[in-house]
Amino acid sequence: MQLHQCLHALGMALPLFTPAALGELVPWPVTGLETWQPSGRPGSNPDWYIHANITNPDPTQSEQDPSIAEGNVYCQIVWLYPDVPYNQISECEIVDTTSPTPWAWTVELLEADDADPYPTTNFDLRWRAASTVSNSTEEEVRIWTGIGQFEVAKNLQGTCAASGFCTFWLKAESTPVPVDVTSISCRGTVDEALHGLNCD
Ligand SMILES: *[C@@H]1O[C@H](CO)[C@@H](O)[C@H](O)[C@H]1NC(C)=O
Ligand SMILES: *[C@@H]1O[C@H](CO)[C@@H](O)[C@H](O)[C@H]1NC(C)=O
Repeated sequence: MQLHQCLHALGMALPLFTPAALGELVPWPVTGLETWQPSGRPGSNPDWYIHANITNPDPTQSEQDPSIAEGNVYCQIVWLYPDVPYNQISECEIVDTTSPTPWAWTVELLEADDADPYPTTNFDLRWRAASTVSNSTEEEVRIWTGIGQFEVAKNLQGTCAASGFCTFWLKAESTPVPVDVTSISCRGTVDEALHGLNCD
């Protein structure tokens, strides 16, 4: 059944890609993404996962100010069948950053808005980033957010092994996948803002 769904996804038609309106912020580059659907065989690891990396993303970076900090935002979404964690928000790890500003990032798995959503072959990811420098004189928290769409036949390729597992990753010609960024303001704490609470 799972393998069938997987193969079905592989043969899926290509829907039209409609990027969000471009602001003046530089898109975040998704440089690495890997999904895993386990074989379900006894004794094998039952975890499903999505791992995604955005490299060198300064959320405030604009076309006018192309200064860039190095670093990697490493997000891992892990679950057990059948509890697909749609709309659950998890924290990402910040690796090897040279940014002078401390950033916190979250990622949220979204169900693809079409006929064939599937959490490892046709899904969206919403990232949120905020500076963790707190400012008690301000009630407004500014966050940066963007949604990437990931889909077999568009920007993912992969394979299902005879033993039953399926794995998908970014097509070389689609890498990096640009994610359009918008800036929004929220009321409350940075942590609340990173969970999308009280935002405009
Ligand atoms: C993401 O980055 C981490 C940390 O640098 C690395 O271990 C991992 O292999 C990367 N994964 C992908 C899918 O690019
Ligand atoms: C805190 O907020 C004040 C008033 O908006 C601003 O002038 C100041 O630069 C902020 N400080 C930090 C560290 O963001």
